[in-house]
Amino acid sequence: MAATVTTKLVILITAMALLLLGTTEAQLSPTFYDQTCPTALTTIRTVIRQAVSQERRMAASLIRLHFHDCFVQGCDASILLDDTPSMIGEQNAAPNINSARGYGVIHKAKTEVEKRCPGTVSCADILAVAARDASFSVGGPSWTVKLGRRDSTSASKTLAESELPHFQESLDRLISIFANKGLSTRDMVALSGSHTIGQSQCFLFRNRIYNQSNIDAGFARTRQRNCPSSGGNGNLAPLDLVTPNSFDNNYFKNLIQMKGLLETDQVLFSGGSTDNIVTEYSRNPSTFKSDFAAAMIKMGDIQPLTGLEGEIRNICGAVN
Ligand code: HEM
Ligand SMILES: *[C@@H]1O[C@H](CO)[C@@H](O)[C@H](O)[C@H]1NC(C)=O
Repeated sequence: MAATVTTKLVILITAMALLLLGTTEAQLSPTFYDQTCPTALTTIRTVIRQAVSQERRMAASLIRLHFHDCFVQGCDASILLDDTPSMIGEQNAAPNINSARGYGVIHKAKTEVEKRCPGTVSCADILAVAARDASFSVGGPSWTVKLGRRDSTSASKTLAESELPHFQESLDRLISIFANKGLSTRDMVALSGSHTIGQSQCFLFRNRIYNQSNIDAGFARTRQRNCPSSGGNGNLAPLDLVTPNSFDNNYFKNLIQMKGLLETDQVLFSGGSTDNIVTEYSRNPSTFKSDFAAAMIKMGDIQPLTGLEGEIRNICGAVN
C-alpha cells in the first residue's frame, strides 16, 4: 500500500518536473544578459539612436525587419542570413527584396556588442531590442524586451514568401495569417499601426489609388501625382500622410477618412469586424500605444530558439 502511494508520488513529481522543464526551456527573460553582457542594451540603444537621428525612416525599417524576421520560422534572425551557394535565404524573397532595409544598422550594433561581449548576444535579440528602441526614438511606446533568443542556422526564401502577408490580402486572410502566429485580431490591428511611420513604393499602392472606390478622391489624386499608372514603381509615399516621422495614431484617423495608402491598411476599416478597433485607436492614442507594446512583446515571442537550439552567430549575415 505504502509502496504504491510512493510510486504514484514519484510519478507525479517527475511529471511536474518535466512539465516545468518543458515550459522554462522556451522562456525568454528580460534579465538574460544581466550577468553575461550587462552593457548589451545600452550599446544597442546608442547605435539605434544614432541611426535614427541620421535618418528618421530607419526607425520604421528596423521595426519592420523584426516583424519580417519573426513571421518566418520565428524570431531567429533568419532574415539576416545572406544567400550562399547552397542556401537561398529570405532577403531576396518577394516581400523583402528591394524593400526590407536596416541590415547595416543591425550589423553595426552586433559589431559594437561583440567588442564588449564576444559570442554572447544573439542577432535575434538585437533585432528585438532595435525594434523597441526604434519605436521609442520616434515617439512610440517603449517596453521591456524579453531576451535569450538564439540564431538560426538556416533561412528559407520559400517560407518567407508563404508566411508574410501580401500587400493585397483580404481582412479574413490577414486575421488568419496573424492567428497562425498566435496573434489576435486586435494584435493585428495594433501592429498594423506601425504604418504610422515609414514609406511605401508606388507599385504596392498603385491599384489602390487608381482602381479602388473606398478611397478619398483628393487623397487618391495627390498620390497619383508621384505614382503614375505605369512606371515610377519605386517612387515613395508616406504610409501616414499626416505625420510620417512620428509614431502616433494618425494612421487610424486616416483610415476613418478613407486615406489608407495600402489596400491592407484600408481593409481594416471597410465595414468589417475591425472597424470598431480602428475607431477606438483613432480616439484613444494611449490605448493604441499600450496595445502596440503588448503586441510587439507577443510577436517577439514567436517560436524562439532557446537553450542549446541554434547558435549565437559571430556575424549576423552568416552561420558560424
Ligand atoms: C498586416 C499586414 C501587413 C502588410 C500587408 C504590410 C505590408 C507592407 C508594405 C507593402 C510596405 C511597403 C514596403 C515597400 O514599399 O517596400 C510596408 C511597410 C512597412 N511595414 Fe508593413 N505590412 C503589414 C504589417 C506590418 C506589421 C505587423 C509591422 C510591424 C509590426 C509593419 C511595419 C511596417 C513598417 C514600419 C513599414 C515601413 C518600412 C520603411 O519605411 O522602411 N507592417 N508594409
Ligand atoms: C486596375 O484593375 C485592372 C483589373 O483588375 C487591372 O488590369 C489594372 O492593371 C489596374 N490598374 C492599375 C493602375 O493598377
